[in-house]
Order: sequence, then C-alpha cells, then structure tokens
Amino acid sequence: MSELALFGGKPIIKDSFKPYKSIGDKEKAAVMEVMDSGCISGFYGSWNDKFWGGKKVQEFEQKWAQKFKVKHAISVNSNTSGLYASMAAIGISPADEVIISPYTMSATAMAPIGYGAVPVFADIESETFGLDPDCVRAAISPRTKAILVTNIFGHAARLKELKAIADEHGIYLIEDNAQAPLGTDDGQYCGTIGHIGVFSLNYHKHIHTGEGGICTTNDDNLAQRLAMVRNHAEAVAEPSGIDDLTNMFGHNFRMTELSAAIGLAQLGDIEIHVGRREKLSNALSKAVVDIQGISPPLVRDNCRHVYYVWAAKIDSDILGVSRSIFSKALVAEGLPNFEGYLAPLYMLPIFQKRIAMGRDGFPFNGSDVEYKQGMCPVVEDMKDNKMLGFEPCIYDISDNELLLIEDVFSKLHDNIIALRDYEYKEAS
Ligand SMILES: Cc1ncc(COP(=O)(O)O)c(C=O)c1O
Repeated sequence: MSELALFGGKPIIKDSFKPYKSIGDKEKAAVMEVMDSGCISGFYGSWNDKFWGGKKVQEFEQKWAQKFKVKHAISVNSNTSGLYASMAAIGISPADEVIISPYTMSATAMAPIGYGAVPVFADIESETFGLDPDCVRAAISPRTKAILVTNIFGHAARLKELKAIADEHGIYLIEDNAQAPLGTDDGQYCGTIGHIGVFSLNYHKHIHTGEGGICTTNDDNLAQRLAMVRNHAEAVAEPSGIDDLTNMFGHNFRMTELSAAIGLAQLGDIEIHVGRREKLSNALSKAVVDIQGISPPLVRDNCRHVYYVWAAKIDSDILGVSRSIFSKALVAEGLPNFEGYLAPLYMLPIFQKRIAMGRDGFPFNGSDVEYKQGMCPVVEDMKDNKMLGFEPCIYDISDNELLLIEDVFSKLHDNIIALRDYEYKEAS
C-alpha cells in the first residue's frame, strides 16, 4: 500500500488539469462571418423591426426554443440580467417577498433587491441540494410574489412540487437554470417548468458565449415583457401597446451578434459538451461507491443530472474522518480543493448589515424578514461539514487523468485507517 502524499508519499497527480476549452473552428468561423458582415449588433432601442435584435440573435433564440421545447427564448447579456428581466416581467414591487435558496450564487438573490423586493431564504433538501418544498411552504407570507429556485449543481430542484405550490398561492415560479442546461425533471427540461427559466452562458458554464444568458417561457405576455425590459422598455411602451407599465423601464440587456453566433455553434454541440461532463461525473461516482461514508450525487427518478458540479456528501461518523482531513488528503494527491460550495447567502454583509439600495437600508428597513446564522441548518451542514465536490465544467480531463483520479480515491480508501489515526491525533 503506497503512503499518502499527506504523510510524505508521492502524489498520484503531478500536473494541474487543463481548462476545458469548447471554442474551436466552428465558433471561429461563426465569429468571422459576423465580422465580415460589419453588423456586430443588430438592436435598436426603438419600436421597429430592429427592436428584436439582429439575424443571429433571432436565429439563436429560435433554435434555443426548439432545442428546449419551449415557446419563447429571449437572449440577454448574462444570467444576472435575465434574472433582473424576470423580476421586472412578473411585476415585482417594493416590499414584495421572493423565496430563494441560500445555497446558490449571489446573483440569484440580488435580482429581487434590484426592484426593492426582499429575499426570504428557505432551506434545501439534502438529497439534491434544491429548495425543500416544505420549507418553501413555511416561508410563504401574504407578501410572497415568487419562488426563485436554483437547479443547483446541474440537478433539478423539486420543480413539479414547487410549481404546484406556486399555482396554489397564485405566485410565480422562476427557475435560475444557470447550472442545469439539458437537465430534466420528470422528462421535462429544467428552465421550462416554471413561468420563466434563466440560463447562463458565461465562460464557466456547459456552453458559453463568454458572457451571456437566455430566458425561456411559454407565456406570450411574459415573453413580450422580457424583450421590452431587455431593450429600453420605457422608450417603446407606447407603440408596443403594452397595458401594464410596471417595471417597464431601465435597461440594455442586449446580446451582440458575435455572442449569438458563438452561441449557435455551441448549441449545435450542446449534447457533446454536456455529455462529457456526465461521463466524467459518472466515473467519479463509481470511484467513490465502495467508500463507506461518501455518497455520490443522487439522481432522482426520471431526472437528468448535467453536473455543473459533481457534489458528493461526506458522513464523517461513518467514514471516521472529517471532510476537512479527507479533502486535505485529496489535495495532497493533486486534486483541486472544493469543499462546501458557497457560504449561505444570508451571511453576506448585504444581509447581515441590511444595507443595499441607498444609505437607509432599503428594502430591508420596511421588512421584518430576518437573516440569522442557523436559520437554514441543512445548507450550513453542507457548507461546513458534508459537501465535497469537483467541477467538471472547469477542467478538461483526459481518460488517463480520469484513471489517476480513480486511483486517488482508492488510495485514500486503502489508507482510511491511517487517516483516522491522523484525525484522532489532530483532535487530541
Ligand atoms: C446559480 C447561478 N446563478 C446566476 C449566475 C450568474 O450568471 P452570469 O454570470 O451569467 O450572470 C451563476 C453563475 O455562476 C450561477 O451559477
């Protein structure tokens, strides 16, 4: 049995992994075609046929809608912009409340604040890390306007249950689907089950346009409102004939023709890009299956997990080793560190100090919603003790490197007694 690198043995992985590169000849040719046309953005902020964007933007939206089997796709320049546009489109108002998971990227919780609404954090379920429907029910108040759910790590939250809750209360379900393109819940694509879904096309995602995003909806009215907010709604409200002026102002969230052309090329290969992440993640899951105390990511029945993050869970009581020591041993063998994901969002200074828009604490100053350590124990346990991940979207792992990663896990498995002794000595 070879000695762990943590104790002075030779690490199994010597070189750092290459970054995943999906930009190739197709993307280069697509960009050059747009460059040669001379028109690198086709939008005008006025009510004419250019209001809807250029040729590539419109083709990209059409193909996206086809691929994801949804009526409308509205491109934007980031997922963050798309979340803002969604809040605007559903008519969110100051003092409204939006229920959100604290275990997501900060952008999810900022969009409501941008319209003066207040995020209310609900805990997650421990199986697939998405919002727990029971906690969502408990968080609903007369002020709740929407549930903004994240399909975190590439797996669907309990979307059907959450949609039923939203329908029961006459509120909206918006999906932050930045991390789960092609993910499915009960055979339906994530991002198309709520009233609006928002995808990210930033550089770290399964497919990307550098920066970019896209909103999806089956609702004609919401589609029009999203397109208006994207492109200076205030200037086109009158000629568009829109009835409800709520939030119809303020932004340029438009995508360039260059980004759309790259997006078209990437979308054409989306199954390949997502498939590579699935293959890698399935291999990682297999590598830990015999280690008692580590649970590989769970995939619910009839769901497709697309693994933005391969997120395993450590049960230290069974493993006999804490996550931090196990992770230290993995890192010593050459794997990148990934423990816990992000801290619960309610611990950010914006919530702890209740300062956001202006100096007087708006929108928190008129609200009794609280942000306290301990309020979402499942998230805190994942962050502090249990979740151990790998980011398949970031690295391009060769078959040979995959074998090495498998060797790392079996080396730790073989040396578990030595790790337990180390843990014991560290603790005493
Ligand atoms: C869950 C989630 N929401 C929102 C975002 C923000 O996406 P973008 O960079 O496209 O604005 C990200 C990006 O990592 C994310 O993972």
